[in-house]
Amino acid sequence: MSEDSVNRPRHIAVIMDGNGRWARSRGAPRAHGHQAGFRTTRDIVEACAKLQIESLTLFAFSSENWKRPEKEVGFLLDLFLRALQSEVAKLHENKVRIQFIGDRTAFSDKLQLQMSEAEKKTLNNDGLKLAIAVNYGGRWDIVNAAKKIATDVQQGKLQVDDIDQTLFGEYISLSHLSEPDLFIRTGGEKRISNYLLWHLAYTELYFTDVLWPDFNEEEIKRAINYYSGRQRRFGKTGDQVVNNDA
Ligand code: IPE
Ligand code: IPE
Ligand code: MG
Repeated sequence: MSEDSVNRPRHIAVIMDGNGRWARSRGAPRAHGHQAGFRTTRDIVEACAKLQIESLTLFAFSSENWKRPEKEVGFLLDLFLRALQSEVAKLHENKVRIQFIGDRTAFSDKLQLQMSEAEKKTLNNDGLKLAIAVNYGGRWDIVNAAKKIATDVQQGKLQVDDIDQTLFGEYISLSHLSEPDLFIRTGGEKRISNYLLWHLAYTELYFTDVLWPDFNEEEIKRAINYYSGRQRRFGKTGDQVVNNDA
């Protein structure tokens, strides 16, 4: 099948897992794995832009990752800050639009400022839509949406009867993007780990044992290829889908 004729995902959501095990297998500290994982992230963003994927959402730090040793959390946040400082200009040049999802109030003022500046600078870019989930949790996202809806009801901007799935979806993160078509988790675990719980309702799931620092363009093409072989039925029968029945 030629690259053009495959059914391609518009939006890919990734859990970038396996940095620690990658480092351990080399007898190196976990930080070394995160550093290598960062290089993979850079390559995969570039590959997705090249493959003309519309949206890419990456899980960089979960709301549960604060439970890690203080030193590792510190390293990850520092790496995140350094990545923002070193990468945003190039991403902007490549027309990438950057957005962060998650509860950013937990971060230092400096980090929050870098995040909002990156968003502002790239707001009007029409290339790859890159969303980075930091201090993100799917349950937090749902609760946060519920709170915002409740506030709007309280202020009379909304009626309870207005609340349906479409409206709820407008209050949740990534509301301006199409739903993820393909979910990829590297590192061998087969779980969602509180990622995009609302959004993954009908996403195709792809799990690979490849550790994140070893993931590359060839591997993402393999995942896209897997996706292109799926029949998405959304509750219908296979015949209905083939015959394009309403
Ligand atoms: C993913 O790799 C990176 C983050 C969660 C920040 P891990 O650090 O979870 O790597 P493993 O799962 O321990 O190998
Ligand atoms: C999920 O990976 C979070 C990120 C990749 C940022 P974890 O390594 O934290 O997931 P669990 O704890 O093994 O489920
Ligand atoms: Mg892990």
